[in-house]
Amino acid sequence: MMYCLAPMEGITGYIYRNAYNACFRPMDQYVTPFIALKHKSGLSTREVNDILPEHNRGMRVVPQILTNRADDFLKTAETLREYGYKEVNLNLGCPSGTVVSKGKGSGFLAKKEELDRFLEEISQGLLKLHMKLSIKTRIGKTEEEEFEELLDIYNKYPLSELIIHPRVQTDYYKNTPRLRAFGLAMEKSVSPVCYNGDLFRTEDVRTLKESWPELERLMLGRGVLANPFLVEMIEGPSRTDPHSAIRRLEDFHQLIYEGYRQVMSGDRNVLFKMKELWVYLSQPFLGAEPYMKRIRKAQRLSEYEAAVAGMLRNLEFDEMGGFRGF
Ligand SMILES: Cc1cc2nc3c(=O)[nH]c(=O)nc-3n(C[C@H](O)[C@H](O)[C@H](O)COP(=O)(O)O)c2cc1C
Repeated sequence: MMYCLAPMEGITGYIYRNAYNACFRPMDQYVTPFIALKHKSGLSTREVNDILPEHNRGMRVVPQILTNRADDFLKTAETLREYGYKEVNLNLGCPSGTVVSKGKGSGFLAKKEELDRFLEEISQGLLKLHMKLSIKTRIGKTEEEEFEELLDIYNKYPLSELIIHPRVQTDYYKNTPRLRAFGLAMEKSVSPVCYNGDLFRTEDVRTLKESWPELERLMLGRGVLANPFLVEMIEGPSRTDPHSAIRRLEDFHQLIYEGYRQVMSGDRNVLFKMKELWVYLSQPFLGAEPYMKRIRKAQRLSEYEAAVAGMLRNLEFDEMGGFRGF
């Protein structure tokens, strides 16, 4: 099985990626949070930092682009090639209102002819740049029946990978993944298919594999944020002993915390980032709520550090206890 870390804007940037890669079973691929092309002059400083090769050593990273303009896409791809990238990913999944209202992300799925022309143009442009294209898509704007036509469009282009989050835009993150539509892609896609969505536990992967034993690619997001041992647990029954598991979690947390402290100005910003991470990371901890309350309330780094130390000290592992079935 090949594993890919999902792009999550504000969370899975290079600091998180490096920490994860150093402490847990490395992912086979990391897709970056989207580059949004707000800046006429090119990438923003934050975007450059995220894709700089020296910030991404030892990882296979694919930068993601969010736009509906072929010229912007190709200009960005060319910039990324100058940094050494040979593949880019197109975001056709973002469900956020501001993105969708501009016809980007999953909003682009409603304009099928335009999308087709866009893909034609960027495929030709990328060919000249000797770069590959992968797509991360939802299955429609409002109805899953749209996916058949979308798939016919995708099948016209040589994609290195078609990553499918089987929800429609109007689902946002509600409801359950629409597996019938995903099955259509497994049947008909000419490009390799990668599944993404709601894989939180090892059982979720097992169930998916029962339906599609030939499925070889998974993209994991919130499941890994909550349980960074998830890939190891999916891969095999090898038991991680509780002490080394806690040490690895501590190291992981420290790398992220120090990473943000080095690059962010002001403790408040660092605390904001760390609190956002703990929303996910606390989920498998048994009895986490009192510690989470302290983490949420922390105004100073010292208060935050004490709260985290308390959380980790009281972590009950019980052979990965909470992590197995949270
Ligand atoms: C906070 C947040 C930020 C996200 N940012 C991006 C992004 O930049 N690009 C993208 O393609 N998907 C983004 N996503 C969607 C995830 O990549 C993924 O498709 C989604 O979370 C479903 O997978 P999961 O159930 O494994 O988390 C984001 C999701 C969340 C919750």
